[in-house]
Formats: sequence, structure tokens, C-alpha cells
Amino acid sequence: MTTVGVGVIGAGVMGAEHARLLASEVSGARLVAVADADLSRARAAAGGAMATTDAEALIAAADVEAVLIASPDATHHRLVLAAIAAGKPVLCEKPLASNTAECLEIVAAEARAGRELVQTGFMRRFDPAYREMKAALDGGELGRVRILHCQHRNAAAPAWFTGAMAVTNSLVHEIDICRWLLSTEYSAVTVIPCPSEEGGMSDPALFVFETETGSLVSVEVFMNAAYGYHVHAEAACANGTVSMAHQGLTRTRLNGAEAGYFPLNWIPRFRDAYRIQNQAWIDGIRSGVLPADRSTAWDGLVATCLAEQIVEALATRQRTRLELPARPV
Ligand SMILES: NC(=O)c1ccc[n+]([C@@H]2O[C@H](COP(=O)([O-])OP(=O)(O)OC[C@H]3O[C@@H](n4cnc5c(N)ncnc54)[C@H](O)[C@@H]3O)[C@@H](O)[C@H]2O)c1
Repeated sequence: MTTVGVGVIGAGVMGAEHARLLASEVSGARLVAVADADLSRARAAAGGAMATTDAEALIAAADVEAVLIASPDATHHRLVLAAIAAGKPVLCEKPLASNTAECLEIVAAEARAGRELVQTGFMRRFDPAYREMKAALDGGELGRVRILHCQHRNAAAPAWFTGAMAVTNSLVHEIDICRWLLSTEYSAVTVIPCPSEEGGMSDPALFVFETETGSLVSVEVFMNAAYGYHVHAEAACANGTVSMAHQGLTRTRLNGAEAGYFPLNWIPRFRDAYRIQNQAWIDGIRSGVLPADRSTAWDGLVATCLAEQIVEALATRQRTRLELPARPV
């Protein structure tokens, strides 16, 4: 395969960025079509490629050899199944689907296809800072991780955001990246919402996970942190710690103060991660060797399934044992 013809579904914030990356920064990829319910958005993201409102037609098109899904969460299940039925590799933005039953259908359909076709868009696995942390932890010198502290802060949540969405939209990234960093599964979670609740949403909320390998993971999700978008992790291990450095490339010293800068949202923070993820996806399709650190359909299922249980724990505020379904063989 010389280059891979890619069709992008959804041309909003994420889809437009993926289309731009595939058209101009990912080698071996050709952006051949963009579908969006809003044709003007599809056209704007498509550049010279085909623009359509019909996502199914895009999946079926002969020159679309691989599909990237960045339409709203509720559309993922149907579109991923359509890509599997067409035998085309598909990179689906998180979440893989809206509930565990839908994710199981996808995992089963992929197994029936007899070929791994689905990658879930948990791009943090390709983020250079997380990768350096994982290499340090896997190196062994730091010793066993006792506690991994994570912060997930957004500048301001939209008015329609709910406490459950803080789990399904934001915490879900932490669920995936921490089990990847620690190479383990979670056994239980305790949710501690901030006592000062406004509009029914507990913000910030603290989630304390216990893992099967005996580590703790604490995650602060703060959707209205005001100062910017900020994701941070620090692992405290038996012999020392490893943490992310400040995310900006530069710092300014002026008038007796030192300053670093925070972006307003996730795209500037994770731009490299999206690009490296998409490059690895395309390289895997071309070479037949899938990226080692990819988030699979099963990983997508795990994140959705645990998020469902944590949303329930938000209401009960009890320590909750976390369970996964049997993995289809
Ligand atoms: N990986 C990440 O860091 C990250 C960050 C933000 C969002 N996301 C995920 O990416 C996806 C898109 O989020 P967004 O922020 O770009 O949303 P958005 O609202 O900006 O864009 C969604 C686009 O999909 C279009 N659309 C709606 N229904 C459609 C359909 N049936 N077929 C084709 N297009 C349709 C809309 O017109 C819109 O242009 C969501 O699943 C979201 O959870 C991932």
C-alpha cells in the first residue's frame, strides 16, 4: 500500500483537527473524504477532498481505505460497526460507544471479522510526556508505584455539562492512561465530590482508585478551574518519584516573576499526541504491524464500562468494586 485513503466523519473541533493532521502532517495518508451532518463544516475541513453529509456513503466509498470517526459519541457504535462490516480499519474518538453493551457488540463484531480493525482514540498513550513517564516506571529503578496522582483541569465547563459527563468525557481519559501507565486493572473506586455543589454538579471531584497490583490512583477532575486546561501526573514510587514537567515549551521571567502558560483547551496540549497517534495508526495499516501501545476495542470497552460504574458511584458515594465483563474470545 503506497498511501492510505482516509475518510473523516465529523468535522467539528476534533474532526477538523484530525482532517488537518491527515492532510498535512501524517505521512502515508491521503485525506479523501469528510462527512458531517453540516455540509459547510465538511467542506471547510475537506479542502480539496470529497465533502458529504452521508457518513455511511463515506465508509462505503472505494477510495476510503480507512475511517476516522470524530462525530458525536452517540454515533460511534453504529459507524464503527459499519466500518467493521466494510472490512476497513477504523480509528474512533473516545468513547468507543455509549455503553458497555454497545462496546461488547463492537468487540464481538471485530472478533467475527477475524482481523483487528478498531483503534480507540485514547491519544494520551502517544503523548511524549506520558511515554517518558511510562518508560521511567517500566525501567524498574523507581520501584513499585505506591500512588499515582493525576489532575485533569478544564478552564470552564459548558453550561450543559453534568457531573456524569465529567466522568464520561474527562475522567475516561484518566481511566485509560493510568491503567496503561501502571499495566494493571482497577479493583475499586471511591468518589469524593466537593461539598460545595452548584447546579447539581460536584466540581471538583476526587476519584481514588485501588489497582489489582496494590497501587493507589488519585484523580482530581476540576471542570471549572478557571486558569486554563491543565493535565498533570506524578507517580510516587518505592524509591522516588516521576512527574510531568510544566507543559509549556518556554517560561518567561519578567518584572520579578516567572511565568509558564496554559492553553484554553486540549488541542494545543495534546496536538503532538493526536499527530503521533494518527501517524502510528497509518503506519500500522501500511505495514501490517499495529502500534504496540494502541488502545484497542477492548480498551475502549474497559473505559466505557468503568465510567458507567463510576457514574453510579457518584450518586451512592460508596466505595465501589469495579468489575469487567468476560472478554469474548
Ligand atoms: N480525544 C480527545 O481528546 C477528545 C477531545 C474532545 C472530544 N473528543 C471526542 O471527539 C468527538 C467529537 O467531539 P467534538 O468536540 O469535535 O464535537 P463537535 O460538536 O465540535 O463536532 C461534532 C461534529 O459532528 C457532526 N455530526 C453530528 N452528527 C453527525 C453524523 N451523524 N454524521 C456526521 N457528522 C455528524 C456535527 O455537525 C459536528 O460538526 C466526540 O466523540 C468527543 O467525545 C475527544
